[in-house]
Amino acid sequence: MNPFYITTPIYYVNARPHLGHAYSTVVADVLNRFHRMCGQETYFLTGTDEHGDKVVRAAKEEGLSPLVYADQISGLFKTLWPELDIEYDYFIRTTDLVHIKVVKEVLQKIYDAGDIYFSEYEGAYCFGCERFYAERELADGRCPDHKTIPEVIRESNYFFRMSRYQDWLIEHIETHPDFIRPERYRNEVLAFLREPLADLCISRPKTRLQWGITLPFDNQFVTYVWFDALLNYISALGYPDGKPFKKFWPTVQHLIAKDILKPHGIYWPIMLKAAGIPLYLHLNVHGYWNVDEAKMSKSLGNVVDPLELKKAYGSDAFRYFLMREMVFGLDSNFNEEAFIQRFNSDLANDLGNLFSRSLTMVHKYFKGIVPQGEAGAESELDFGLRANADKAVQDYQKAVKDLAFHKAVMAIWEFINHINKYIDVTAPWELAKRKSQHKELQTVLYNVLEGLRVIAGLIYPIMPRAARVMQEHLCITWAAPFQTLDDLNVWGKTRPGTKLPKTVTLFPRINRDKPELGAGETAEPAEAFRTVKAEIPVKVFQQVDLRVATVLHAEPVPRSQKLLKLKVDAGEEITIVAGIAESYQPEDLIGKQVVIVANLNPTKLMGIMSQGMALTASDKAMCRLVTVDGPCEPGTPLA
Ligand code: MSP
Repeated sequence: MNPFYITTPIYYVNARPHLGHAYSTVVADVLNRFHRMCGQETYFLTGTDEHGDKVVRAAKEEGLSPLVYADQISGLFKTLWPELDIEYDYFIRTTDLVHIKVVKEVLQKIYDAGDIYFSEYEGAYCFGCERFYAERELADGRCPDHKTIPEVIRESNYFFRMSRYQDWLIEHIETHPDFIRPERYRNEVLAFLREPLADLCISRPKTRLQWGITLPFDNQFVTYVWFDALLNYISALGYPDGKPFKKFWPTVQHLIAKDILKPHGIYWPIMLKAAGIPLYLHLNVHGYWNVDEAKMSKSLGNVVDPLELKKAYGSDAFRYFLMREMVFGLDSNFNEEAFIQRFNSDLANDLGNLFSRSLTMVHKYFKGIVPQGEAGAESELDFGLRANADKAVQDYQKAVKDLAFHKAVMAIWEFINHINKYIDVTAPWELAKRKSQHKELQTVLYNVLEGLRVIAGLIYPIMPRAARVMQEHLCITWAAPFQTLDDLNVWGKTRPGTKLPKTVTLFPRINRDKPELGAGETAEPAEAFRTVKAEIPVKVFQQVDLRVATVLHAEPVPRSQKLLKLKVDAGEEITIVAGIAESYQPEDLIGKQVVIVANLNPTKLMGIMSQGMALTASDKAMCRLVTVDGPCEPGTPLA
């Protein structure tokens, strides 16, 4: 079986770890664990990128030398990962001597082969990006990232002859459809390659920057950060002669976000080709996490700290939310309310309740001893459950291989729901009343335990802690620390006669002051979610789709004192669950014109999908809907 090698980007040490870094590293960990379950030998690399201008500047601000500063921030990354149950094999730093040695070797090799040349250059240089920009790459003459006007710099430098490899790279990408995936990013790279590819300036004179790796063929220059950073993927394996390099390099897959597509999709394959090193198998590219629909940034004060989230909700729940909520390749939104909703509905309710109700029944009806499943006593329902387990394992496996982690989670939850229904329909509490149905009762509970065993296996890559607790309580010690996919493909591995420990609560429900968050209610941000409501750019506000809507229908939400379900005409029919039941009677609302937000992520409230939010003026004492001053066409936007 082929080994498996996965890398994350190595993170800059000019900022503390945040949600975005955590996502990439959790995905790598999930993949790594999954491939271990497939029986493959795996290697998982992460680390920090420590050279360059940005680090020098950040260190200066702290009054530290670059290396002392890099040690500190690199340490934050290194100690964060185990907190999130990320089990990497090696943590590389670009200041490691072995890495520096490899960078010099590769530079020399490419130089000797004639693909690096010396030339004078004048160009627009962005200090923020530490790179020159071609005129066509600028937006209104400004750096597209930093919005600053680059300085024109003239200097002699070393250049990497990338242009020579342009046609070769296009052909490679075209003949290897999954070299860069998902497809949208492959297309993006191909589109870029339709323009002539300029050679890459790969040096910085020491007069301008010293914090870098000295060129082996000219000690007046240091190498450009990307030429240094990308080589971490091979230096960490002991290139060129190290055993890990020989074993794992041929199967390498990189994982990055869309921000660093160009260096990975263009510079890196060309560097490898020029150095005579085989190319990577896949470049897996994901989208960006926004927070409350805005780009995460220090100035907005909405940077999410993964460690705080872990402290508040546990690392399993954090990992679960990331995997469930992002469609790999697309951008996604992080929101604390959505997090808590998922926690309570998917983890505490669906999975947690199933687990504890099942073990409680085994204790109640069989004194905690795993009953024997009776082949003769099996019904259609039992066969249905098995078929569903098979389907879950197949769908899950396919989804993870396709990097569709949200679908993998959905496959598990479909099976969880199936077991919950199986219990409701077979009603063990009824079977227990009649001696004649003892065998059926045994069979049902045996099957439920088997189903839980399969689920414990499937959740392992995403939620290793819950998987372990489930396995311990199901006495699947023979498979510690995890079951293989082969184990999950076989029905009947739970051992009858085993005495199971008492049940535990896997995910205690999160009860907040206001458990039902509806329109008109505002949640107190948890401490973990350090959103400082700072000033926002007009552009961000303009993204809010505010409209006038006419209430067509209103009714109470069962089992809720606060919520009403509204159907409104907002140019289109929209369902809104609003927290206004204590202030309005449903019948008084019909025909009323209200103001709504129409482009919120749909959220389920008390089982009802709410597609928007009605604005209210509210405090502890009262709640009043926001209306318009006179009749308006439904759907009229608010300017
Ligand atoms: N040092 C370079 C990478 C060199 S790799 C040879 C770098 N570092 S970085 O600290 O800026 O990290 C960028 C990566 O962090 C992204 O590619 C992604 O993996 C992760 N993310 C940073 N912000 C993110 C989001 N808002 N959302 C998702 N991931 C993001 O670039």
